[in-house]
Amino acid sequence: MKGTILSGFRPTGRAHIGNLIGALENWVKLQDEYSCYFEIADWHLLTTGYEATSEIQSNIIEMAADWLAAGLDPKKSVIFIQSQVKAHAELHLLFSMITPLSWLERNPTLKEQARDLKINENMNYGLLGYPILQTADILCYKATAVPVGEDQLPHLEMSREIARRFNYLYKPIFPEPKSLITRFPRVPGIDGKKMSKSLNNAIYIADSEEDILKKVKTCITDTSKVHKNDPGHPEICNVFQYHKIFNEGMTEETKRDCEAGTLGCVDCKKNAAKKIDEHISPIREKRNELLKNPGYIREILNEGAVSAKRVADATLDDVNKCMNLKNKQEVL
Ligand code: TRP
Repeated sequence: MKGTILSGFRPTGRAHIGNLIGALENWVKLQDEYSCYFEIADWHLLTTGYEATSEIQSNIIEMAADWLAAGLDPKKSVIFIQSQVKAHAELHLLFSMITPLSWLERNPTLKEQARDLKINENMNYGLLGYPILQTADILCYKATAVPVGEDQLPHLEMSREIARRFNYLYKPIFPEPKSLITRFPRVPGIDGKKMSKSLNNAIYIADSEEDILKKVKTCITDTSKVHKNDPGHPEICNVFQYHKIFNEGMTEETKRDCEAGTLGCVDCKKNAAKKIDEHISPIREKRNELLKNPGYIREILNEGAVSAKRVADATLDDVNKCMNLKNKQEVL
């Protein structure tokens, strides 16, 4: 039997090439092996972004356009918006009853987030419950595997603990979802740090060829390679990482020529930018095409929500029965 997958992102807007290589391209492959659910986690966005909500809707559409353009196929996968499937909220509530506060307080991803956002003293209740909501997302579909990046591992560990606890307390109806870690090269941002929208160092799928070149040109390479003919050290160079990912056929040659001092950084950057552009330009074109008709994207998301709801409501029904919150005669 095929396993079930659920994964998602918060709708922070357009996807960058780190999302593409690290997640989307992997999701596209998984569509043929698993029954797949991909959600746009707008409630999760509110856990930190509750003040600025004016762009949520346009960000959802942009994100969905990127997903579809990258190859997520609504005929194979259920693609939906979290807040359209209310069962996630109910399951979150029920799981919150059986989750010890100490599990949440020791979660390293949450701690790091609180530190980054400087909200240690003033953590909101919703953010503390982030992993419980994520568990509800996963277990509404009894997903057996969750493709995520490494930062999500503590959340997944907690999902397994909550599933185990529910199964022990009531009835064993939930699988313990495994993480599918994507062992993809980490795509560095143009400043060498992790690529992230908030660090302002991302190359987006939506970026034009000129945008990409402009961004790659700002990359700091090997600081000891001052003149074109100086020998370089590709392993410490950010741009070489881009070659490794987007210019596989020429990686060795690029390395050799850089080390020999026959390839200057300006040309090397131009080559890298061109290869990045070649990789993403068909996706970019498709996304721009899709965005001409946001109504079509909405339709896909609405249909996704209908399919998701059917499964999630059935799980909730089961959960309520297990917890004796529903008797057999009850019809609502
Ligand atoms: N926490 C994830 C992120 O921001 C998003 C997310 C929400 C998620 N629910 C999920 C990921 C369920 C996997 C499974 O990266």
